[in-house]
Amino acid sequence: MVEFEIDGQKVQAQEGWTVLETARKYGIHIPTLCYHEAVKPSGACRLCVVELREGDWSKVVISCMYPVAEGLKVFTDSERVKNVRRWILEMLLAECPASEEIRQLAAQYGVTSTRFAIHDPDQDCILCGLCVRVCAEVVGANAISTVGRGVHKQIGAPYLEPGSDCVACGSCVTVCPTGAMRRRLDAVRGKPKVELAR
Ligand code: SF4
Ligand code: FES
Repeated sequence: MVEFEIDGQKVQAQEGWTVLETARKYGIHIPTLCYHEAVKPSGACRLCVVELREGDWSKVVISCMYPVAEGLKVFTDSERVKNVRRWILEMLLAECPASEEIRQLAAQYGVTSTRFAIHDPDQDCILCGLCVRVCAEVVGANAISTVGRGVHKQIGAPYLEPGSDCVACGSCVTVCPTGAMRRRLDAVRGKPKVELAR
């Protein structure tokens, strides 16, 4: 077992666990968007940041990919962490201003506007890729992927044509943290084998 501290509380983790896994085990809340325990972490959203401290030294890391180590001192809600989280939420507000879920989350941290440029006021996807990973790693359908490049990048079926690989299981809708996948379903699933409840 590996022993370390989260917010001053002594915790134990198994070798190979991440800081986020350990925090969840102990009921310590760290906000996440692109993480789901059923798939490999990707580190896409950065919202799960925590601070590691040792004496005067401190650094901010993403907890969903940071491996536990003996003697770590982790802080999940320090001023530095809150500042970084607010900054990330401001960026997300600019990236997907049409997502009510992101607006609500940002408001919880006092972020109600953004200083970053909004390129598409209708955008509601943060391109976290969680839907793609669940479809590939859990469902095994590989029905969706990232399509396009740069500002044109989006989630969809290959060539943005409704695909026959979609089994209409709804897993992508369930895990999507912004609500975007619900609105993309028709463009992805083509003729589903099972009609999905809306
Ligand atoms: S549709 Fe949802 S889950 Fe998929 S990339 Fe966009 S925000 Fe993430
Ligand atoms: S939850 Fe860790 S980077 Fe998204």
